[in-house]
Amino acid sequence: MGSCKVPYSVLLLCFFVGSLLVPQCLSIGDDANQTAFLLVNASEALGRPIPETLFGIFFEEINHAGAGGLWAELVSNRGFEAGGPDIPSNIDPWSIIGDEDSSLTLSTDRSSCFEHNKVALRMEVLCDTEGTNICPAGGVGIYNPGFWGMNIEKGKKYKVVLYVRSSGAINVSVSLTGPNGLETLATHDIIASFRDVATWTKMEVVLEANASNPNSRLQLTTTRKGVIWFDQVSAMPMETYKGHGFRSDLVDMLADLKPKFIRFPGGCFVEGEWLRNAFRWKATIGPWEERPGHFGDVWMYWTDDGLGYFEFLQLSEDLGALPVWVFNSGISHNDQVNTSNVMPFVQEALDSIEFARGYPNSTWGSIRAAMGHPEPFDLRHVALGNEDCGKKNYRGNYVKFYNAIKKAYPDIKIITNCNRFSQKLDHPADFYDYHVYKTAKDMFSLAHLFDLASRNGAKAFVSEYAVTRKHAGKGNLLAALAEAAFLIGIEQNSDIVRMACYARLFVNDNDRRWSPDAIVFNSSQLYGTPSYWAQHFFRESSSATVLHSTLLTNTSTSLIASAIMWNNTDDGKSYLRIKIVNFWNNTVNLKISVDGLEPNSIQLSGSNKTELTSGNLMDENSFKEPKKVNPNQNPLENAGKDMDVVLLPYSLTAFDLLKGSSNIRTARTDSFSRSSF
Ligand code: AHR
Repeated sequence: MGSCKVPYSVLLLCFFVGSLLVPQCLSIGDDANQTAFLLVNASEALGRPIPETLFGIFFEEINHAGAGGLWAELVSNRGFEAGGPDIPSNIDPWSIIGDEDSSLTLSTDRSSCFEHNKVALRMEVLCDTEGTNICPAGGVGIYNPGFWGMNIEKGKKYKVVLYVRSSGAINVSVSLTGPNGLETLATHDIIASFRDVATWTKMEVVLEANASNPNSRLQLTTTRKGVIWFDQVSAMPMETYKGHGFRSDLVDMLADLKPKFIRFPGGCFVEGEWLRNAFRWKATIGPWEERPGHFGDVWMYWTDDGLGYFEFLQLSEDLGALPVWVFNSGISHNDQVNTSNVMPFVQEALDSIEFARGYPNSTWGSIRAAMGHPEPFDLRHVALGNEDCGKKNYRGNYVKFYNAIKKAYPDIKIITNCNRFSQKLDHPADFYDYHVYKTAKDMFSLAHLFDLASRNGAKAFVSEYAVTRKHAGKGNLLAALAEAAFLIGIEQNSDIVRMACYARLFVNDNDRRWSPDAIVFNSSQLYGTPSYWAQHFFRESSSATVLHSTLLTNTSTSLIASAIMWNNTDDGKSYLRIKIVNFWNNTVNLKISVDGLEPNSIQLSGSNKTELTSGNLMDENSFKEPKKVNPNQNPLENAGKDMDVVLLPYSLTAFDLLKGSSNIRTARTDSFSRSSF
């Protein structure tokens, strides 16, 4: 007889029984080289469908994520309103070109033609083309440096819109220049008679850049004496994501994550430090010129609200993700509305839902239609408040919102801020919010957080998770691995955790309010942190099937694994994906055994291995080295039902095994029993 090959599953059993009876019966390596076993049952009948919306993204207006980030508007404080509705207003970062004593004076008044944002800039030019006070050759006027510099690219076009009126005829140069105004990248003169600009007039100019500079500015200059008023000055790149005003390179990064939902617009941003500064959706819709903008007093900056409620819904649709709309429940960080007075807030919420999905002839649906979107948006989830459960009026307010929304829109899923871990829910909800900010070590342990959670009642929405605090840096490998372990736990508990998203998504490197973040950018550059890349390993999980798997190891606290079956819509093929986090500093030899597949049903060609690791656990990406910690994919040479693989120290590895077409089973079953995990 030839030698008898012992199946891995039998070896695995031996290991399991042996380690119970005689712990040392199998040699499983020394400290520097461990062996572990993973048994996967590929039978989808024993697996469980993962919700279609398990993994998404959370966008908060924090770190200039939207204003000066995702929203492609180049001008900061375009309506000169940043100081509020009273005058004198704060025109920062607009600045003067010329000498304040001899060539021009600037002030603000409330003469704008826009009812909700009356502040306009008044520019009195003292010098002239002739006489005793000659203007400098380049003219005098104002410039806006945008959000830490405008990224102007050679050959690209930019649309500048501005509202102007004057005491006489005008000749104003609209220019894109380098940071000190010396290099002109594009320019156009607006020449108009007094009759044309005696009252507020909209002017539009398209500028094509003849050179590039990531630190450019917009200038409005003249050499003619007189008084000119400016208001609502905008400069937008002509090329934006799907023509909808979003910065394409940033949205591409989001699209690459294949998010199934977007939670927006906060976070604390929704609440405000004070209610008067909270996000009010009605002030963020309609023509951009008519939006008053507001000061977000939690993250302490002004937003012109170009990225408003409509744009968030549009972004969700553009990404094929469901919107998850978080609105204020009458509660901020420091003040709250009594439940007896909360009905106006409830009506605001109802109106917002009608805006998103009402008929085009409904009161609020008609405004959406007028904005170019007659079809309803696919709004199915709303969250009432953010981290407000402990506030005195939350429960009372919540119930009023809940009842009114369910009455008008019974299908809408409602998310409460009260999580069922700390207390039993005393109010109805479809989901409960759960926020997890931990050290890496604690986050890794939390992979099992939901194992024992009650399976009844409201489902969990982990709407903010991240490794922060100790050793998290600005986003390093350590944090990414711990988060990946946590997500593996979520995948395995996706019968109770139905949605999860990382916080925070974006940071403009010039305004770091919070670190780490998933995507770092400035005016022209961007990169994903390791946490961003770790999420790539989970982008096929929503709608997949999580399989039964058993991991046996004597390093049980430092390895965590899961297996899913997913269908690739790009190539129409079916893959078994095994993901493993090795959270310690030694190599692990892993024996993988896959049961429940027909013989030879795994194809060598097309199967691959993807690893996320780096030379140092604390390694971070940067503008200089954007892909220092980046997934690395290679063909899987020994793809098969039984495989010996090596897990690198401190790594996240995915093995994608391409299934043969004869063996693809897509039928789902609900007969999954949790206890089998
Ligand atoms: O992500 C930053 C803040 O952290 C969010 O606004 C808030 O929900 C959480 O406390």
